[in-house]
Amino acid sequence: GNPGTVVEPKAVSVAEPLLLKAVRGEDVERPPVWLMRQAGRYMKSYQIICEKYPSFRERSENVDLVVEISLQPWNVFKPDGVILFSDILTPLSGMNIPFDIVKGKGPVIFDPVCTDADVDQVREFDPKESVPYVGKALTILREEVNNEAAVLGFVGAPFTLASYVVEGGSSKHFSKIKRLAFSQPKVLHALLQKFATSMAKYVQYQADNGAQAVQIFDSWATELSPVDFEEFSLPYLKQIVDTVKQTHPDLPLILYASGSGGLLERLALTGVDVVSLDWTVDMAEGRRRLGADVAVQGNVDPGALFGSKEFITNRINDTVRKAGRGKHILNLGHGIKVGTPEENVAHFFEVYRKTKSDFINE
Ligand code: CP3
Repeated sequence: GNPGTVVEPKAVSVAEPLLLKAVRGEDVERPPVWLMRQAGRYMKSYQIICEKYPSFRERSENVDLVVEISLQPWNVFKPDGVILFSDILTPLSGMNIPFDIVKGKGPVIFDPVCTDADVDQVREFDPKESVPYVGKALTILREEVNNEAAVLGFVGAPFTLASYVVEGGSSKHFSKIKRLAFSQPKVLHALLQKFATSMAKYVQYQADNGAQAVQIFDSWATELSPVDFEEFSLPYLKQIVDTVKQTHPDLPLILYASGSGGLLERLALTGVDVVSLDWTVDMAEGRRRLGADVAVQGNVDPGALFGSKEFITNRINDTVRKAGRGKHILNLGHGIKVGTPEENVAHFFEVYRKTKSDFINE
């Protein structure tokens, strides 16, 4: 400004989102809640969009559709976190790895990576150039949600991305990536390094464009034994966390791995702020094993949403009680399942509002 003129401060919107306060360990009156895969096929409104736009890539790469789908659960349930509608595989085409997500089949990688030469063909990711729609969508979501909830970004972790890219899609036995890991580890390490550099940049890009917290999905890291996790996953997760913390020290990072009970202490070693638990570990035990510095998320079996409302309430209360006060984000132990009744999802979001006073009286 002009020296001498008084600059009126701009009207600032509501205080900080509850989710961010909870992660920092502030004394919040109730746990914030959002659900993994809260946008998607269990919602009638999403199915209607799918009929009109049958291509997953179109739905997830068109700014207007991304914003509309991300806001569907927000408009109905008012969660405390609004996650970008996208996929962990979205960056792949920008890395010269063509892919699609095919109805009934899932992810397909057209030319799976298996050799040194294949890894050489993988390009490092430039989010601004390759996925400008992600930045635009996040910016719009921030305006729409206006700090009434936290806008959440996400990325796939290097090992989990590598598992899709090497296997050619979803896998049950993970034989190809294990063959690569255990017979040509250097080739796999070169691929993992490219993903680590690229995903660190992608987290920074998402934060710069409006994401207020970012979740890292290492869904399949738990296919690795602990010693192999220490070689093929942990260093790359740490690299992403360290790189992002240098430029965005206050951006909360959440880490999720499916079936992570055997690896919890090692997940905390990554330096993330929040660890998201699946349902195969007791919340109180998980909390103890992770230590007081780490916030916890998740833990309720997504299958519980097929039970009665009373059953769902009991499961939520059990998790909330065991998590203890503060540093807890209420969520499921994995994504919402296809076929989950929407009214049960609505109930999941309402229970915490009802348990508010119980929670204060703990
Ligand atoms: O949580 C949200 O609401 C945001 C959207 C989101 C999607 N994928 C949309 C999606 C998120 C966070 C993801 C992450 C993702 N994608 C992960 C990590 C989380 C996890 O489940 O462990 C993984 C492993 C993927 C890869 C992937 N994409 C799979 C295994 C599938 C399912 C294939 C199938 O057909 O069931 C997808 C497709 C996908 N991504 C769908 C959605 C809503 C379903 C397909 C569709 O809606 O047409």
